[in-house]
Amino acid sequence: KSFDIAVIPGDGIGKEVMPEGLRVIDAVAERFSLDLAYRHIDWASCDYYDETGSMMPPDWRPQIGECDALYFGAVGWPARVPDHVSLWGSLLKFRRDFDQYINLRPVRLFEGVPCPLANRKPGDIDFFVVRENTEGEYTALGGRMFEGTERELVIQESVFTRTGTDRVLRYAFELAQSRPRKHLTVATKSNGIAVSMPYWDERADLMAQQYPGITVDRQHIDILTARFVLQPTRFDVVVASNLFGDILSDLGPACAGTIGLAPSANLNPDRLFPSLFEPVHGSAPDIYGKGIANPVAMIWSGALMLDFLGRDPTCPDGERYRRAHDAILSAIETVLAKGPRTPDLGGAARTEDLGKAIAELVKTI
Ligand code: NAI
Ligand code: MG
Repeated sequence: KSFDIAVIPGDGIGKEVMPEGLRVIDAVAERFSLDLAYRHIDWASCDYYDETGSMMPPDWRPQIGECDALYFGAVGWPARVPDHVSLWGSLLKFRRDFDQYINLRPVRLFEGVPCPLANRKPGDIDFFVVRENTEGEYTALGGRMFEGTERELVIQESVFTRTGTDRVLRYAFELAQSRPRKHLTVATKSNGIAVSMPYWDERADLMAQQYPGITVDRQHIDILTARFVLQPTRFDVVVASNLFGDILSDLGPACAGTIGLAPSANLNPDRLFPSLFEPVHGSAPDIYGKGIANPVAMIWSGALMLDFLGRDPTCPDGERYRRAHDAILSAIETVLAKGPRTPDLGGAARTEDLGKAIAELVKTI
């Protein structure tokens, strides 16, 4: 089975870390005989915006919509294009148009990475945040009345559909089922948000009946954020609405070290549309051009992509994709422990030094 991957570097360090991501994917593809074809995309960038006045061509959808996955760097260059224009004109369009309703972020503390939490060792932090990515608190429903007067009134609605709630819960239960600890934390706030959150809890309770092997822990979002910092060993898979998940999925990776390590996946698990794999970080204009960006987040995102592709029911060699994922993770682990290290990890190595070291290691693992 062959997979088509749209390669979209975007802006700034997206253009520097992408070649390292591809270097590592090429290396595992050779090692494990994966059949991947790239489609290189130079739009969805502020350079393209400067030339044309828009972030993407009118036929962007047919150009990438048939691909199996989108491998995405970072977008944004605030000095030239306002962030809401660059983000809504590209990345956020992909997420919405391709119904990528799961935002998945692994959080893991590696040996050799300084942890901002006191007394934590590798193994203490190893969990996934599953964020609902299409509805919930993020809607355009609402309005203002009596603007500019003392009676000014602003309303912003949340939307929780049964389909939207159940599909993210389903994904999280299945993920927890596949992990050794089989533990799911459900973020809620049903004490304060008295309509939508009790509904969320109700759907979670109902689904829990179908997964008797999973322990389910319901936690209010306020104490849950405190426990990310104070008791990270409690977590295995954490599922949350769009807003709560947004917060948790930034806090989680921050608890486990530098932003240069954090990967993410925006998934349409039903595979009706391509899913998107990207580092959590942005285009980092402050370090662009110096060749010192940490490529690990980009490389790890590539590993998530291969793992996802290998789970395609029509893919007969899924096992090889899973091994490719594991090989990349294990190579990342070794490089973080032993170096080379980029400046954000306290070293003096360059972007390509890490990419090359990881690519060499995956050939031998
Ligand atoms: P940023 O993530 O680009 O940078 C934040 C800080 O982290 C900077 O000091 C940067 O040097 C550092 N950093 C980020 N990635 C790094 C890496 N791989 N290695 C070493 N250091 C790294 O966030 P910022 O500065 O708020 O945004 C810059 C631009 O990126 C904006 O236009 C923003 O809208 C865009 N952005 C795009 C995202 C995306 O494409 N998904 C996500 C976040 C921001
Ligand atoms: Mg965020």
